[in-house]
Amino acid sequence: MLRSHTCGELRPTNLGEKVTLCGWVDRVRDHKGVIFIDLRDRWGRTQVVIGPGSSPEALAAARLVRAEWVLRINGTVGARPEGTTNPKLATGGIEVACATLDVLNEAETPVFQPGATDLPGEEVRLANRWLDLRRPAMQENMFLRSRIVKIMRDHFDALGFIDVETPMLGRSTPEGARDYLVPSRLDHGAFFALPQSPQLYKQLLMMAGFDRYVQVAKCFRDEDLRADRQPEFTQLDVEMSFVEADDVIGVIEGLVKRTAREILGLDVPLPLPRLTWDECMERFGHDAPDLRYGLEIIDLTALAGESDFRVFRAAVEAGGRVRGIRVPGAAARFSRKELDELTALAVEAGAKGLVWLKVEETGDWSGPVAKNLGAVAAPLRDTLGAVAGDLALIVADSFDVSCKALHTLRKRLGAVLGLYEPDAMHFSWVVDFPMFASDGETGGWASMHHPFTAPRPADLDLLESDPAACRAVAYDLVINGSEAGGGTIRIHDGVTQEKVFKLLGISAETARERFGFLLDALRSGAPPHGGIALGIDRWVMLFGKLDSIRDVIAFPKTQKASDLMTGAPSPVETKQLVELGIRVVVPPK
Ligand code: AMO
Ligand code: AMP
Repeated sequence: MLRSHTCGELRPTNLGEKVTLCGWVDRVRDHKGVIFIDLRDRWGRTQVVIGPGSSPEALAAARLVRAEWVLRINGTVGARPEGTTNPKLATGGIEVACATLDVLNEAETPVFQPGATDLPGEEVRLANRWLDLRRPAMQENMFLRSRIVKIMRDHFDALGFIDVETPMLGRSTPEGARDYLVPSRLDHGAFFALPQSPQLYKQLLMMAGFDRYVQVAKCFRDEDLRADRQPEFTQLDVEMSFVEADDVIGVIEGLVKRTAREILGLDVPLPLPRLTWDECMERFGHDAPDLRYGLEIIDLTALAGESDFRVFRAAVEAGGRVRGIRVPGAAARFSRKELDELTALAVEAGAKGLVWLKVEETGDWSGPVAKNLGAVAAPLRDTLGAVAGDLALIVADSFDVSCKALHTLRKRLGAVLGLYEPDAMHFSWVVDFPMFASDGETGGWASMHHPFTAPRPADLDLLESDPAACRAVAYDLVINGSEAGGGTIRIHDGVTQEKVFKLLGISAETARERFGFLLDALRSGAPPHGGIALGIDRWVMLFGKLDSIRDVIAFPKTQKASDLMTGAPSPVETKQLVELGIRVVVPPK
């Protein structure tokens, strides 16, 4: 090694030792000829002093040194003079009196200083990711990620899981997103699809008899991106044979407990709470509800049906629902303008409007439509459990729209009213998902999870008679309102699998052409099996209490799925296209 110690290692117990440090210049200060350099590396920061005891060459060199230069320092560990110790820094009790200084590399003035507190916008950080990754906060995120993945690997290793790699170049594995395609050079017009998940391969590993599989798997999905979604992300992918839902859930709960203990020092009581999908939609309007706070949705449809208020009646007569949230003590909290903003939020989520009402000291409602309530005013207050000073937000619409709008409002209110501790962690399972949701594009059925999910045994008959009522053996892990993992028990017989394909509008011929290998394998002795995949990026984001998934990925993509550092995706040479038999049609700008 070019060094004897790291920049995070020296303590007062090292006083008097001769040491060699290497690192980046975090900061340079010149105090009347005595130069202080904060030298930084992965391990920490150490103050180096170049003064009267240093060689003349070292002093001359130190005067030239700039931020982000790479140095090697020889010197002696000394105590910091009284009053200059820094209790916030692990090495804050010592400094290194520099004897000699080598410049290992100079650096041009950096686009931004990793050591500075004021950061440039994210675009600049992403375009210069190597600099951004020098920031201690980013390094911490990457170490956290590494620790979490290690805990995961240890957990599954101890339980006898085998780690198997599955291909990146394969055939489309449908998870509901668009595929990233890779053209074949040897077979023009044919394409590989990058995996949306290793779903089919892991099922085939069960059929091959591996019994317990785990993989840290890269997945690729060409879908609209959000703060918690990347086109390329990582799953902890798990599959088990001869299991029921409770077995898979149990294995993951063990991991939750262990991760929370080791990373946060938190004891999570098991078993985790479980909610059915129906309950989630009724009470929270979403299948991954944030349970760190209340603000539950209350159904007002029956009452609304008796009212003369046009907005309520119209929704009820159209077969919709009238539902609301009581926000305790919030009547005086929001200005008219803020209530208009909440209305706009509901409208953005699809609602036709938002009824807001305040309970006055007299117990009467106030608000733009308070006088329209008529005889239902009092029962409405009782059903909502509203008392003086409360605010009520009500949406009258289809069930779906009221779910979307009220979920959006709930989320906003939880955040702006500070209804949860910033450190709170809430883990829960959502179970009993519907097998299918109606597909907005085709009007047919689409899988709620994926086409390989098994219906609840009791619902097998509903598969054909009433697909909408058929529930799946599916379970999602929700952490603080974020879907941190999802899994299902799989169909393990060919007949049911073919039925499900048919319901999804996949003809027998297409099923054979696309999934023939699966159908054959299902008919060659497939064990009952099931599994789950955890979103590793999301786990790290949630356990690290971070807002963006990009902060836990070393080289992430932007919301527009591009890499600002390398410039990917980028045009390629015509020669490459010719080899691949591809002609590009670029639409006019
Ligand atoms: P699913 O599609 O629910 O299930 O994915 C599992 C978990 O992966 C994470 N995730 C994502 N993370 C970041 N960016 C994305 N674009 C993204 N998409 C998903 C989520 C999610 O819960 N094969 C099934 C699993 C199974 O049935 O075993 C699957 O992929 O945290
Ligand atoms: P309008 O008469 O359409 O202007 O609506 C009267 C009030 O009811 C306004 O405050 C609207 O925001 C609200 N409103 C209209 N439609 C709905 C709806 N479907 N659900 C909840 N509030 C609504």
